[in-house]
Amino acid sequence: MTPDPAPTVQQLLAFYLEAGVDCALTEEPVDRLADPDIAPAAREPASPSPQRTIPAAIAAPATIAAPRGEAVAPEAAIMSAREAARTAPSLEALRALLEKFDGCALKFTATRLVFADGNPKARVMFVGEAPGRDEDIEGLPFVGRSGKLLDRMMSAIGLDRSSAYIANVIPWRPPGNRTPTPQETQICLPFIQRQIELVNPDVLVTLGNPSTQTLLSTREGIMKTRGRWFDYDTGTRVIRAIATFHPAYLLRSPSYKRMAWQDLRAIAKALEQPSSS
Ligand code: URA
Repeated sequence: MTPDPAPTVQQLLAFYLEAGVDCALTEEPVDRLADPDIAPAAREPASPSPQRTIPAAIAAPATIAAPRGEAVAPEAAIMSAREAARTAPSLEALRALLEKFDGCALKFTATRLVFADGNPKARVMFVGEAPGRDEDIEGLPFVGRSGKLLDRMMSAIGLDRSSAYIANVIPWRPPGNRTPTPQETQICLPFIQRQIELVNPDVLVTLGNPSTQTLLSTREGIMKTRGRWFDYDTGTRVIRAIATFHPAYLLRSPSYKRMAWQDLRAIAKALEQPSSS
């Protein structure tokens, strides 16, 4: 039998991409098999130990190592995020503050800040969870597969990126698309809250469970919250807010598109009413 030819670099990269390995976490490759700090048992595939060694760059840190070297405790980072966000007089100032803010570790593994897309004067604002790979590359929210579906959902009720504003609770891509930690979410929360206050939409749409639970202060799941109207208090005004499914979820479970369509119709109906601001 002739052995299979060695895979080409392209084939190997395609294999890694398919397996979810889609970003470099450090400048240099790390040979973890040669790492003396990893106990032999942890390297042994047949080991009965369920413990896995998670690369430090992906694992959620307990403290944030700012580039200057000092560690920032999450509580201090939350306080400084609140203080910084409160003072931003405009969206441009808020973006500039976020560019300088070192309190969230996600900033150091992400390629760039993903602040927002769309029209800051729009009457409707959509908020997702966190950028993924495509968003991290382009610096814009919802530009990948789920973004394409979000565009189609908006277009079904006559909206596009010139008549809607789009952002995320977390503005940096978590490494390997891992779920943001509660601390990371709390650190980023004051910024998205200020962003919502500055955009001041008539209708706020939370996309999926994490965004809904974080912004609408509910512990109920998306099956219960979707399609329901909430009051979102910016501190200066109460905005009507509605939860719906995240487009990524609809891509995996298309049968829920029917319910999402009901939510979209409710959003369209709310936008028929004159602005209350
Ligand atoms: N998922 C999100 O929640 N936000 C994005 O920007 C892209 C995917």
